[in-house]
Amino acid sequence: MKTVILIGANGKMGQAALTGLGKHRVITASRSGKGCDYKVDITSEESIRALYQAVGGFDAVVNTVGFCEYEMFVDMTEQQWMTTVMSKMMGQINLVRIGQEYIADAGSFTLISGILNTKPIPFAIADATTSGAIDTFVKCVAYEMPRGIRINVVNPTVLVEAWDVYGEIMPGFQPVPGKLVGKAFERSVDGFITGEVLFVDA
Ligand SMILES: NC(=O)c1ccc[n+]([C@@H]2O[C@H](COP(=O)([O-])OP(=O)(O)OC[C@H]3O[C@@H](n4cnc5c(N)ncnc54)[C@H](OP(=O)(O)O)[C@@H]3O)[C@@H](O)[C@H]2O)c1
Repeated sequence: MKTVILIGANGKMGQAALTGLGKHRVITASRSGKGCDYKVDITSEESIRALYQAVGGFDAVVNTVGFCEYEMFVDMTEQQWMTTVMSKMMGQINLVRIGQEYIADAGSFTLISGILNTKPIPFAIADATTSGAIDTFVKCVAYEMPRGIRINVVNPTVLVEAWDVYGEIMPGFQPVPGKLVGKAFERSVDGFITGEVLFVDA
């Protein structure tokens, strides 16, 4: 049994990840902290450090948070770009940058991206761009991780559980059940793979 910090636990993707973490002691966190063990804001270095220090020892971090602004490119403001970059890209990079100081030897990080960087749709340029950045970050930083620490990213298509929200803007996409996406998180946490983008598509 590992101690796993799950960030964004109450979100749709957090609930999907949770289905793959049944063997472990899961410590949950989110921005509001509602229904979770801890509060954390992944856009704040201080808040991330405070979370790791409060939890103490842990073997894995699973992050399912990455806020994105949705807008057509020509209408997208710099502020909207920066909000997305500071959450989905830098927020996740900071979780790893700071987390590698605290995580156990041979621990693992699992991040979240999303299928829109390989299957683009209107309004999703910021999500697609930062998802692509995170996929690249994971593939490349894996070579630099100290103490046998692993890192992977789950890149899923839309969840069945989120189809009511995104279905209308994703014609021609086939949603997948959260349980299937949970398997990818399980493979990352319980396997020996590193530097991998775990695509889950129908
Ligand atoms: N849903 C899908 O079908 C799908 C598919 C592929 C990829 N993704 C990606 O998965 C990620 C999560 O999507 P979702 O559908 O799970 O969203 P969601 O249901 O809206 O949940 C978002 C979660 O993130 C937390 N959160 C937001 N900002 C935070 C911050 N700054 N610090 C800490 N926690 C924060 C929220 O916490 P509080 O509730 O406490 O505010 C909530 O738990 C996104 O990057 C999305 O692009 C989603």
